[in-house]
Amino acid sequence: MTKAFLQCIEDGCHRKHTLDRKDYRCDACGGMLEIGYDAPRVAPQALRQTWQSRKSTSAIEDQSGVWRFRELLPFVPEGSNVVTLGEGHTPLLDVDRAGQWAGGVRLAIKHQGNNPTGSFKDLGMTACITEAAILGSRVTVCASTGNTSASMSAYAVRAGMKAVVTVPAGKISAAKLAQALEFGAVVIEIGETFDDSFRLLRALTAELNLYLVNSLNPFRLEGQKTIVCEILEQRDWRVPEYIVVPGGNLGNVSAIGKGLRELKELGLIEKLPRLVVTQAEGANPFYRMVANNSAELIPVAEPRTEASAIRIGNPVNWKKAIRAIRATEGMVESVSDDEIFAAKAALAHDGVGCEPASATTIAGIRKLVASGKIPRGADIVAVLTGHQLKDPEISLRRRGEADLARQRLRVEPDVNKLRAALERVLASA
Ligand code: F0G
Repeated sequence: MTKAFLQCIEDGCHRKHTLDRKDYRCDACGGMLEIGYDAPRVAPQALRQTWQSRKSTSAIEDQSGVWRFRELLPFVPEGSNVVTLGEGHTPLLDVDRAGQWAGGVRLAIKHQGNNPTGSFKDLGMTACITEAAILGSRVTVCASTGNTSASMSAYAVRAGMKAVVTVPAGKISAAKLAQALEFGAVVIEIGETFDDSFRLLRALTAELNLYLVNSLNPFRLEGQKTIVCEILEQRDWRVPEYIVVPGGNLGNVSAIGKGLRELKELGLIEKLPRLVVTQAEGANPFYRMVANNSAELIPVAEPRTEASAIRIGNPVNWKKAIRAIRATEGMVESVSDDEIFAAKAALAHDGVGCEPASATTIAGIRKLVASGKIPRGADIVAVLTGHQLKDPEISLRRRGEADLARQRLRVEPDVNKLRAALERVLASA
């Protein structure tokens, strides 16, 4: 089996560490760590065939859109079970109307909301809870804007572990909170922002020997990187010109960047798509960093956006994310909440729903086409990170009054009144 290790990402260091450490900081320089491994010596064509053939078996590892690509996750010792809910294998859908709305691009969405707990987090969680089980952890913890907590709670309970999450008080959607509670997690509401709750939790993880699953945990990114294998498989390995993802803590863009790099190293693709990160205007420290050409990220002290999933001012993965942007000649865009909800409404015309954070991608594409940074006709995959039902309150609140007057009718329980209402609807059809 291929040997995996942890490795510092800092240029000039790259020190290797064993897999069993939990602080994910380099001993030598304090830098972030990622999983490294010696690439499997398998011809690209053989790998593709192996991955394809697993689709027709009934083994749960083969049905998972993460473990089907297990040659790229060689950290599970032979004979260990993986903790899976059959995540991944999400649809890649053309969305022609949204593509027109965004300025006339060839647009497809990869819908990660179609995962067991309704977000892309499940891809990372199967990998990192599997690792937690290998290490014999009994308690897993995370700080979250909601989706990570729902996902971790599900995978932890499945693995027989206790889940504890910290969330900003009163700031996450009721649907996500209900998920974590239903899976038996203890939910600690603490601080005003995700950044507060993350900072406080991190201060205690080592002292209390807690297994932290936030995306600074490199095993998370290993699971999440497999999305690129699925996207490329679904496109018969034709590389798109752009892959667009929302940016919060910047784990996902880092994972996708790593996945692309490895596929290129393995000879599975010859060129890289340009990665584009989209952030909400009130929580856009990464956008500012790139726009100002700064060497360091300056946190946003009071992040604000109605896209609560990405209300993050101090993203932990910015160093990995900037590598991914540079390596792919990528871009970062920033969009207002109005633009986010307009994009969400545009997507709905293709029959596709998502949570607000996900719609930043479509809003960002429209802005980049309008400014000429993405050409019309470009071939683009946007990653929708969360399910439409993750945040129903905000969708209702954001539906304009005119739309609601037309769409949401209250009729007295009388067949004649109902007939009259239906006739008005039919007349306008
Ligand atoms: N989209 C959704 C729906 C999210 O829940 C998140 C992050 C992101 C995008 C941003 O991804 O952090 O990898 O850049 N949610 C985290 C959470 C922070 O706690 O659920 P990222």
